[in-house]
Amino acid sequence: MIFTTISSEGVPNAAPIGLHRKDGRFFARIYNSKTLDNIIGYPVAAANMVDDPVIFVQSALSDIGSEKFEFIENFPVLRCSCGWIVFDCRCIKGEVISVVELMPVKGKINNRKIKPVNRGFNAVIEALIHATRYVISKEEKYLDLIKYHNTIVRRCGGPREQEAMRLLYKLLCLNNQHHNFNLLSRQT
Ligand SMILES: Cc1cc2nc3c(=O)[nH]c(=O)nc-3n(C[C@H](O)[C@H](O)[C@H](O)COP(=O)(O)O)c2cc1C
Repeated sequence: MIFTTISSEGVPNAAPIGLHRKDGRFFARIYNSKTLDNIIGYPVAAANMVDDPVIFVQSALSDIGSEKFEFIENFPVLRCSCGWIVFDCRCIKGEVISVVELMPVKGKINNRKIKPVNRGFNAVIEALIHATRYVISKEEKYLDLIKYHNTIVRRCGGPREQEAMRLLYKLLCLNNQHHNFNLLSRQT
């Protein structure tokens, strides 16, 4: 899911976060991040069901534009979502990771598109998980994993998946020309 939250200054934020269900209760496990800070400051989060790979990449590796949000009773959700659920949050703060219990308040289904399984989309999501780990650890193994998933996106992805992958490489300052994987010097 992509979680939307709001800062104490009223700035909306979006980031991919896993939604867990256990014994009928909902949880998220959230590392120290803007999303966690926002939930601690204002304990509400919306889980947005999104099928656009580009929004996943943008929200994971950069800030998405304010035009991508709509406000439902002063709380941000994503305009492009297939549906969303707003939760009240109870946070058990940890040193590195915090467990947030999510109590559903309201939800909306915007569309019920039929989406067949697409390996390209799934590969973007896998590559993106490795990308967010690479950002934190800078471990080379994540670059190999991203490269592997990129080959699947090139073979199986549609235009949106190709664009998402190009953006992923750009935001990581990597070069994916001809499957090369050279680190580019970071531009400021
Ligand atoms: C598919 C996917 C699932 C993710 N799930 C989680 C998660 O459950 N918990 C978490 O802390 N980060 C998760 N991440 C990483 C965050 O999205 C990432 O660290 C992001 O940059 C946090 O952004 P923020 O600082 O704006 O909150 C996930 C990333 C992806 C691509």
